Parts: sequence; structure tokens; C-alpha cells
Amino acid sequence: MLSFSLFDATSKPSEEEKQNIINFLYKHLQEFRDAKKAISKCLDYALKNNVSSFGGFVLVLKENKKAQGVTIINKTGMKDYIPENILVYIAIHKNARGKGFGKLLMQEAIKLANGDIALHVEPNNPAIKLYESLGFTNKYLEMRLKKPH
Ligand SMILES: CC(C)(COP(=O)(O)OP(=O)(O)OC[C@H]1O[C@@H](n2cnc3c(N)ncnc32)[C@H](O)[C@@H]1OP(=O)(O)O)[C@@H](O)C(=O)NCCC(=O)NCCS
Repeated sequence: MLSFSLFDATSKPSEEEKQNIINFLYKHLQEFRDAKKAISKCLDYALKNNVSSFGGFVLVLKENKKAQGVTIINKTGMKDYIPENILVYIAIHKNARGKGFGKLLMQEAIKLANGDIALHVEPNNPAIKLYESLGFTNKYLEMRLKKPH
């Protein structure tokens, strides 16, 4: 049986659930992963944990109560000129791919998010196919300036 768990500023995960979310994303993002510290920051932003943030949410897709997919959305606080939301991470368990779980999780996240959604994806990531099938387009090329710290 498939179900969703939703966490946000008003419904926070336990410390154990939080670590499970971070570990799941770290493991199943595979070559597209960030450091656990970065994933943890994104999660804290979504949950408004001791950070000044606009919030967001975390959605976990479960099959028979076992996590099979996770996505984290951060709100930007902006609108009209920058989308209201950024889908920062999405991963499906590596043994559960190609069964429609990614699409299902994205569809639910799109339903729950208020406003438009931006995401960035490496040009060689096959996930692009999934995003396009849901209506995402790439009108812009994202450019970043990395400043020395
Ligand atoms: C991207 C990811 C979330 C997709 O999840 P999934 O459950 O395998 O995808 P689905 O089974 O729901 O497939 C949805 C659609 O995308 C397409 N698709 C998914 N993965 C694909 C792949 N590797 N190659 C080609 N098409 C793919 C499917 O054909 C399907 O299209 P359809 O609806 O027309 O049949 C999953 O592969 C993943 O976790 N990848 C590693 C992490 C990652 O890359 N995250 C995104 C970082 S930006």
C-alpha cells in the first residue's frame, strides 16, 4: 500500500525521522548527491528549524510503511519574477525506480506547493524526461558565480 508522509514547520519529523530523510537522500541521490550537511540545511530551511526561512515541506512516499522516495521543497518568499518554490531534492530508492514512484511523488509535491516551482538538474540527468513529462520547461540557462570563501 502506498502512502505519503508530509512534514513542514507545523508538523516536524522526530530526530530519528530527520536522520532517515537525510540518509535516504544522501544514499539514493547517488552521483547527484550533496554533502549530508547541505541536505540537512535544506531540510532545516523547509521545517523552519532555527533559521530565518520561508519554509517549505518534505514529502516521503512509502510503500507498506517503508520509504521509497523523498522530495524537499523550499519556499523562496518570491513570486511573479522568481517562482514561489524550489524543488531542491528528489530521489527514489534505487531498487524501486521505473515503477512510476518518481512521477507520483512529483505530482503530489506539485499539488501541495502553492505557486510555481523551479528546479535545477544536470544536463546529463535522465530525470529531465520526468520533469518534461510533468510540464517543466527550460526557458533559462542557470548561471552561477562561485565566490571564493
Ligand atoms: C529521477 C528519479 C526520481 C525518477 O524516479 P522513477 O521512479 O524512476 O521515475 P518514474 O518511474 O516515475 O518515471 C517517470 C517518467 O520519467 C521517465 N524516466 C524516469 N527515469 C528515467 C531514466 N533513467 N531514463 C529515461 N526516462 C526515465 C520514465 O520513462 C517515465 O516516463 P513516462 O511517464 O512517460 O513513462 C529517480 O531515477 C532517481 O531517484 N534518480 C536519482 C536521483 C536523481 O537523479 N534525482 C534528481 C536530481 S535533479
